[in-house]
Amino acid sequence: MASLEEIQIKEKKTYNRSDWSSAYQNVEKEFENEEIKLVSGTSLNELNGTLLRNGPGILKRKEQWVHHPFDGDGMITGIKFKAGKATLTNKFVKTKGFIEEEAKQKFIYRGVFGTQKTGGVLNNAFDLKFKNIANTHIVRLGDKLLALWEAAGPHALDPNNLETIGLSNLNGVLKKDEAFSAHPKIDLNSQSSSEILVTFGVQTGPKSTIRLMEFSNSGDNNGELLFDRKDLFDGFAFLHDFAITTNWAIFLQNAIDFNPIPFIMGQKGAAQCLKSNSKKIAKFILIPRESGIFRGQSPIIIDAPKGFVFHHVNAFEEDNNIILDSIFYDDFPSVGPDEDFREIDFDNYPDGKLKRSIINIKNRTSKITTTSNQCCEFATVNPKFLGLKSIFSWMATTEQKLGNAPLQSIKKINLITNEEIYWSAAPRGFVSEPIMVPKKNSLNEDEGFLFIVVWNGKRKGSDLVILNSEDMKELAVYELPINIPHGLHGSWLEN
Ligand code: CO
Repeated sequence: MASLEEIQIKEKKTYNRSDWSSAYQNVEKEFENEEIKLVSGTSLNELNGTLLRNGPGILKRKEQWVHHPFDGDGMITGIKFKAGKATLTNKFVKTKGFIEEEAKQKFIYRGVFGTQKTGGVLNNAFDLKFKNIANTHIVRLGDKLLALWEAAGPHALDPNNLETIGLSNLNGVLKKDEAFSAHPKIDLNSQSSSEILVTFGVQTGPKSTIRLMEFSNSGDNNGELLFDRKDLFDGFAFLHDFAITTNWAIFLQNAIDFNPIPFIMGQKGAAQCLKSNSKKIAKFILIPRESGIFRGQSPIIIDAPKGFVFHHVNAFEEDNNIILDSIFYDDFPSVGPDEDFREIDFDNYPDGKLKRSIINIKNRTSKITTTSNQCCEFATVNPKFLGLKSIFSWMATTEQKLGNAPLQSIKKINLITNEEIYWSAAPRGFVSEPIMVPKKNSLNEDEGFLFIVVWNGKRKGSDLVILNSEDMKELAVYELPINIPHGLHGSWLEN
């Protein structure tokens, strides 16, 4: 007999919301080098590295839920592949706030996305302290791993056991509490070094400053800051992500306003005070990279199309143009103060669409085309092609072709022909960001592996699925010993 969930899926949608929301729970346990079970496919002996993922691991303290999963404390999952064996290590990032709240077993900080301390509005008003929750991304810089959260500094972790070393100023590069983006780009094609980590920090207000930093990420000066510049712009800037080409760092300053009053008064989280302003024009901010041929020159600012962007996919230079692929929403999506994030109606939220901007540097104009109307997020390219012209992109998408819904499929798209192929976890599986690992020594852009952590709504557990990135065929499925809530970003580290 079909279960209630299966009947609901059949009658109405490609998914059941309670399957989706069942992923939201606290991670109960930390493991170290726990062997994980292959339940389908074959173990891949050629894999020799570690998949690293970051995302919220604590969503509830006593009876109080976070207001938005983005307010959950960061938990790192590392899955190491060596000689055909796969082992899992998972650790919470031991931030100051995590340690304090663990001891008291309650929320004592307000979350940026609307989580309030106990005690109501009065107890939250005028408390403007943030908890650095280190939950957004994990990357290697030099000999350390960094757990990132964009409004404050990185937490350094030991790559061997994922234990937290502590908040890092990167050998004096960052001032106390200086913002450090959660979206660094690893450039393998720079003229200056075999591997550069490019990232930024933004300080915002009526005017905003972008600090663009380029670190060596290989060789004798591994981890050292090579290039550094600061540029001042008019207006408020909410910049979650950016894109790079060989010579440019590309930002999209969304047309939104920040009204801090409800935040200060204790009624809303800071991110709930962001609102699209249809009278404003979004701007592309192009900053010359100091490692490139336009070093020392001023930024170029060009009017951008309507819409809101969290994530870019990739960018490259072609003649006088910068070609930029991004995921555009019609509006800024936010979970309001009276809504429960586990019970949201997906139909009421804007969906993300893959669009291509062609930014003409000479004429200072931009135009936009839609590559696909199907709702998507977390798009990526072969890391060797970051900043260069890439033909293929892989991303998490909805199962349905139009409208918003949970992400249940992984799509490979040819950005020239728009040809698409899929792997699907529907109706009861829910996907996260795919991580593309190119096949060693291969010259084919799409040859390699895709790693996806999947929430298995039927089993009520997390699986790791490995796909062939070329034909999207399933190669291996592992069952994980921990239940990982829908997560954010991650990376692959060669052993
Ligand atoms: Co992001």
